[in-house]
Amino acid sequence: MPNVYLKTYGCQMNERDSEAVSAQLLAQGYSLVPTEDQADVILLNTCSVRDLAEQKALGKMSHLVNDSRQKPDVVFGFMGCMAQSRGSALLPRLPRKGLVVGTQKFHRTGEYLDRIRSGEAEKICDVAPEAGSESTIKEHLPPASLPNPKRRVSAYVSIMQGCNQRCAFCIVPDTRGKERSRPIAEIVDECRKLIAEGVREIVLLGQIVTSYGRREIGKKNGKSAFVQLIEAVHQLDGLERIRFTSPHPRGYGDDLIDAYPRLPKLCASAHLPVQSGSDRVLRLMRRGYTRERFLELIRKLRAARPQIGITTDIIAAFPGETETDFQETLSLVEEARFDNAFAFKYSPRRQTPAANWEQIPQAINEDRHSRLLAKVSEIGHQKYRQQLGRQVRILVEGPSRRNPDRLQGRTSCNKITVFEGDRRQIGELLDLRVHRIGSFTLYGDPL
Ligand code: SAH
Ligand code: F3S
Repeated sequence: MPNVYLKTYGCQMNERDSEAVSAQLLAQGYSLVPTEDQADVILLNTCSVRDLAEQKALGKMSHLVNDSRQKPDVVFGFMGCMAQSRGSALLPRLPRKGLVVGTQKFHRTGEYLDRIRSGEAEKICDVAPEAGSESTIKEHLPPASLPNPKRRVSAYVSIMQGCNQRCAFCIVPDTRGKERSRPIAEIVDECRKLIAEGVREIVLLGQIVTSYGRREIGKKNGKSAFVQLIEAVHQLDGLERIRFTSPHPRGYGDDLIDAYPRLPKLCASAHLPVQSGSDRVLRLMRRGYTRERFLELIRKLRAARPQIGITTDIIAAFPGETETDFQETLSLVEEARFDNAFAFKYSPRRQTPAANWEQIPQAINEDRHSRLLAKVSEIGHQKYRQQLGRQVRILVEGPSRRNPDRLQGRTSCNKITVFEGDRRQIGELLDLRVHRIGSFTLYGDPL
């Protein structure tokens, strides 16, 4: 049986795509191996969202193809966003047998590998669009084969592909294509099977889940297709929790806010990418909302679920951002009181409008990024410290990453919580008292 090593870069959608490809390859007789040493096939599932992510995968691949310990006949492949965006330009980086598979072709990976391995082809590149490809990310690995054991308890389910927004900085509409949503019944079916395998939490995934089914399904009784989907998944017996990522603030309607008090399985957390606190920059970014509208949304969410954990994404040094604009981003972090935020240095991406605008010098970009990080952790720590002494209910996911003798789970607000426990508690809801606060981690004692 040929051995496949698959390494994943980037977001949750990529992690999910890799799981689906792994499950398909397993079904076709391939074995999954955790390291590259004995691999017959080496695949990198790539990310393009910032240049750094691309450079990491390119560096890794060049290291791999030059590794003399490699078996002689290894097939190397790029999959995912960078494969989609760079296409056949990547083939010369794969000197021997090579594969480039775009984001609408994951399900063809096995077929292409067979053709290359049989000698029928040396190199294959397929980045063409394919109708219906949004429904091809559906297979799940048997629990024991999951590269991330957390997924046995909390599973990712891809509900849509693509994004139509075209924010001025973002390459995703190019790498992931136009918005296409899967039918509700199909998603519910997938969730039901996962629950039967022991999954207790479902994370609904898409680049812009608030646009889910806008054209395919539409509104019913004032409820968006996305809320209809959440309601349908909510009805499944044996499911404890529902999360989703990522919504867009612009599409975050009152129907979705109203879902929080109504649907107890919907976790008290929201990842709401804001990108900037300056109206001027938000306009340049083409985000379609103002600072005030964003803050209003947060107020409504906190009114609907007072303990809700809110996280965000922020970009520092977007082209045209002045020091005054940046100060408004810092003050937004204070005002919004995010539990955590991912702070990114702006990275110009090919074929995006902002890449052609006058850029902020690198030194200023780095300086703003580090000031932003400092503000984010100051506020984040204040928010985490408020949890001290509180009783929280977690879903136990598995061994703690840093200390495998301990277990970890997540609160409904999406805070990682570490405790001393027994592996039999994995998959259970557990009440803890928080006795210590670490860096974006809670430590608790079982009650
Ligand atoms: N809607 C998707 C966005 C994917 S990109 C989602 O929320 O998952 C994830 C984050 O990367 C964005 O929210 C943005 O903050 C950041 N990002 C996107 N393009 C970027 C760029 N060109 N430079 C720096 N950060 C970027
Ligand atoms: Fe990117 Fe904006 Fe869509 S950040 S994924 S173009 S909502």
